[in-house]
This record gives sequence, C-alpha cells and structure tokens, in this order.
Amino acid sequence: MKKSIVLVAILGLGSFAMADVYQKCVICHGKDGEKAALVNKSKVIKDMTKAEIVASMKGYQDGTYGGAMKGMMVEHSKNLSEADINEIAEKIGK
Ligand code: HEC
Repeated sequence: MKKSIVLVAILGLGSFAMADVYQKCVICHGKDGEKAALVNKSKVIKDMTKAEIVASMKGYQDGTYGGAMKGMMVEHSKNLSEADINEIAEKIGK
C-alpha cells in the first residue's frame, strides 16, 4: 500500500518537471490543451494554431484580447516571457 503511494508521488513529480511553464495551465486547459477551461469558457487550445496561441497570450498581457473570463487569463499570462509563450505554443498548438 505505502509503496504504491510513493510510486505515484515519484511519477507525479516526473511529469511536473517535464511540463514546466505549461504546468500551471493544466488544471484548466488539460495536460495537452484538450479541455475547454471551466466547462466551455475557453476554446480547446490544442485546436488553435501556434500563431493564434501566441497572439491570444500577448493579447491577454496587453489587454487587447479575451472574452468574459479574460481576467483569469490576464492573471495567468502576465508573468510569462515571450520565450515562455513560444514554448507553450510549440507544445500545445497545431
Ligand atoms: C483558472 C483556469 C485557467 C488557467 C490556470 C489558465 N487558463 Fe487559459 N483560459 C481560461 C479561461 C476561462 C479562458 C477564456 C478567457 C476569456 O474569456 O477570454 C482561457 C483562455 C485561454 C486562451 C485563449 C483561448 C480562447 O478561448 O480564446 C489561451 C491560449 C490560454 N487560455 C492559454 C493558457 C495558458 C498557456 C495558461 C498557463 C500559463 C493558462 N491558459 C492558464 C482559464 C485558465
């Protein structure tokens, strides 16, 4: 019993380290961007192109993009660098 808990903890940490900048997005957008955040409040971001993801993240940062829930994404985009955004788009976008 105890062993399996330790194993789950180690596996959990492993996937944390891999995903880094995208990790804090997973809870809402899904591991691969496959979920519409908060029950259909966002697009399924893995269906967006890389360029669309970059444009929307920059738009959240400068206040030119977003819908009813954009306050949430302003919060989640504001500390990302351009390199972080490109990395996320590369990983998630099509
Ligand atoms: C607390 C939940 C939550 C977290 C965490 C979160 N998002 Fe979002 N995201 C949303 C919601 C809700 C929207 C739709 C906002 C709106 O109305 O514009 C959204 C929209 C987006 C969009 C644009 C999709 C569209 O509908 O136009 C992208 C791209 C995106 N998020 C990427 C990210 C990335 C990358 C991260 C991590 C750095 C992240 N999100 C973290 C909830 C979240």
